[in-house]
Amino acid sequence: MEAVKFVMNNQEPRDFSLLDQETQALASAVCGHKVTGMNVHLAHLAKNLRKSETIVWATKRVMKSEAIGINWEHLLNYVVEDCLKPFHEETYWHLKRMHRIMTEQFKLLEHQKPEQLDDFGCQDFRTMEHFELTSSDQQNLKWAAAFHDLGRMCYPVSFWNTKGAFSLKQRKQLDFHARNFYFLGEMLNVYQEVIALSVLHHWPNKGYPDNGIIARLRPFLDQPKFQYTLNWLVTNDVYGGATDRRSYRDHAWSHEQVIIETMPKEMARVGLGWVPFIQALKQPGQGVVCPA
Ligand SMILES: [Fe+2]
Ligand SMILES: [Fe+2]
Repeated sequence: MEAVKFVMNNQEPRDFSLLDQETQALASAVCGHKVTGMNVHLAHLAKNLRKSETIVWATKRVMKSEAIGINWEHLLNYVVEDCLKPFHEETYWHLKRMHRIMTEQFKLLEHQKPEQLDDFGCQDFRTMEHFELTSSDQQNLKWAAAFHDLGRMCYPVSFWNTKGAFSLKQRKQLDFHARNFYFLGEMLNVYQEVIALSVLHHWPNKGYPDNGIIARLRPFLDQPKFQYTLNWLVTNDVYGGATDRRSYRDHAWSHEQVIIETMPKEMARVGLGWVPFIQALKQPGQGVVCPA
């Protein structure tokens, strides 16, 4: 595998007035300006982002059309540590675990092709096309695993601690945690592919966000290799979400229970072709990359 090179980004200034209107509104709110008529979910996100001095500093530079000078992935790490962790630790640990699962899967594939792995009796894994992923493809997936749920800060934290099933109204609002990554990503100049993977992380299995943002990401969705990577991310996410410890669950669901009962239901639209990548990490008597 080719070596991953460290690449500096965010060294070029961008014209703030050319950014999306909602990105401009988010940036203004992060910088403490009063923004009238702003989407309530974006306003929540801005309030959480203001907890990071680094992000406020970087956003002021964006608003002045100055180069930020700090790589976007470092900025998102500040968002994770300064904003997400105090907001909702369970989501924080979910993202950490997702990143580890993805990293472990790619380590496993360093010396063998997917076709050489055990299919665990999964027909989809045997018959589907497995794309060769470059180190950039893998890095983008690892970044998306580490950052895809930052939009969870678009709500009051009580939203995520709801006991039992979400109401219909709450389920409709879920759209925004995926959609609003687009504006956070544009503000900090995140790679387009990482934005697309993050915004679309519920699209293959649940069909959201379904509120006007998909048309912009269509060029990604039309690429078979992108679909392959997106479905991989979604499969890990469904598994991770189901096996994570969550305060609203009486007990953690077991690996076997999730593989046998949850995944076939949740992945009905996508197929189970990526599940063997999870099974390959399973240790006897344990789950996969145990939740914190
Ligand atoms: Fe999500
Ligand atoms: Fe997630």
